[in-house]
Amino acid sequence: MVVQPSSGVNTIVGVTTAVERRELLKEVWKEASTCTKCQLAETRQTVVFGAGNADADLMFVGEAPGANEDRGGLPFIGQAGRLLDRLLQEVGLERADVFIANVLKCRPPGNRDPRPTEIATCRDYLHKQVELIEPKVICTLGNFSTKLLRDDPTGISKVHGQPEVHVLGVRAVTIFPIYHPAAALYTPSMLDTLRADFAQLPALLAAPLPPQPAPDVFEPVPEVEPEPESPAETETATAEAVEGAPEAGAEVLEQAPKTSDDQLGLF
Ligand code: URA
Repeated sequence: MVVQPSSGVNTIVGVTTAVERRELLKEVWKEASTCTKCQLAETRQTVVFGAGNADADLMFVGEAPGANEDRGGLPFIGQAGRLLDRLLQEVGLERADVFIANVLKCRPPGNRDPRPTEIATCRDYLHKQVELIEPKVICTLGNFSTKLLRDDPTGISKVHGQPEVHVLGVRAVTIFPIYHPAAALYTPSMLDTLRADFAQLPALLAAPLPPQPAPDVFEPVPEVEPEPESPAETETATAEAVEGAPEAGAEVLEQAPKTSDDQLGLF
């Protein structure tokens, strides 16, 4: 995948349009919505895939759905979500501007902490969301998403409010850890810290995209009209075609079939 920094909708070579981005995201949602890869499938009511603006420059990643989200199928629709909305509003943003996801797509029973095996099992869905949405900034909410996306065990209290550039997949992105809004529900003094960290968001979003790693895999293979071959040329032509194919492991993005449903809560 080659990332071309741009204003507005980013361009993924091979995906290109906002419509296709949504369709590909829906494909991932469809896969996740029937996921039974871990034991949370036995107790969840709904898979909470994530919701928001598929073209967002800003993505939030929380921990896991709670009881409200498990019932409603959308992230952050309880008390913590209302606080998140308020904090967004205070910096001139709203949900329609951002995409919100979680480390886990299913509710852990009794809101217990996510387990390492659950995080590892669910991680691919988040990585695919990040790959398709191509945010400029990922705001990690609390310990679990911060540790996962920074790939480091340092806790949120040491790193909150400090933006860092990380390469996720093939893209460099600014990771901005902040406390989970639920923390401010239990410890009201935390609200000032959250507000101070949120206040940095407009500047982070206005900054240019971090320098990107050199693209090395996703050069599109030009389509060449096959010319009629004489039998003698067949062997060489086949060898050349194999050499010209994407390297092993390169993902070939197929265009998803168009659907009119909008079950992702996308804007
Ligand atoms: N807390 C989270 O981390 N995620 C939600 O979706 C709701 C509450």
